[in-house]
Amino acid sequence: MPASRRRSGRGIRWWRRKWRSGARAIGGTGAPVDGPVFDDAFRAQLLELFKWRRDVRRFRPDPVPADLLTGLFEVAGLAPSVGLSEAWRWVTVDNPARRAAVRASFEACNAEALAAQAADCADSYARLKLAGLDEAPCHFAVFAEPHPRQGHGLGRATMPETTAYSAVMAVHTVWLAVRAAGLGLGWVSILDPAAVAAALDVPSDWVFIGYFCLGYPQADSDHPELERLGWEHRRPFGSTLIRR
Ligand SMILES: Cc1cc2nc3c(=O)[nH]c(=O)nc-3n(C[C@H](O)[C@H](O)[C@H](O)COP(=O)(O)O)c2cc1C
Repeated sequence: MPASRRRSGRGIRWWRRKWRSGARAIGGTGAPVDGPVFDDAFRAQLLELFKWRRDVRRFRPDPVPADLLTGLFEVAGLAPSVGLSEAWRWVTVDNPARRAAVRASFEACNAEALAAQAADCADSYARLKLAGLDEAPCHFAVFAEPHPRQGHGLGRATMPETTAYSAVMAVHTVWLAVRAAGLGLGWVSILDPAAVAAALDVPSDWVFIGYFCLGYPQADSDHPELERLGWEHRRPFGSTLIRR
């Protein structure tokens, strides 16, 4: 069986077995139960998932089954959110004209970003592939609803940005779930938020979080593409830890 079939079959079977079968909805019944015990083997696997999650910009054309996509969003709904507001909003984008408008915004913003590069970085920036908009079979945008009734305002009075943070939590959750299902996700932020909101016809107060390309990756790697291409590298862990 070709690698592409193996990958997609594995992802879908895994998804169905782990998340889509059984009578209980994802998230459980709400009744208190003894939780699972996560053993060393699971922790080792989880670490592998963290290591092998990638921002993906190069996709194979294989379609992503619609139920797999909605299953991923459902799993992402397990993310934490301020006041349990679930302020994230997923907007799938299939319409070619809307996709073209987003792509046009990316082209314009990326040209601006290139023009703003220092002379010694411009050539390398121009060589980077910073979106998989043309190849990815699935596109979606994520927005945060800034004033959801859900959650009754808990936790966000002094920090209204926490609804956007909640949406980012859901994005990270879906990013990991995507990788676990054998798929890849690429975050596109080189966009004009107003242009994207107009292209997707969403409420004007929604906060744009990001635009995402999803599909089966051409290749897997345990290193970020920006590192492999020499643009940037991860720092030793200690440099991000401040003790007071
Ligand atoms: C908020 C955010 C915005 C990003 N925007 C872009 C983008 O516009 N284009 C792109 O190629 N990658 C984008 N990325 C992906 C990062 O470049 C990537 O996460 C980083 O290089 C580390 O690589 P990894 O995700 O494969 O570990 C973004 C990531 C985040 C978290």
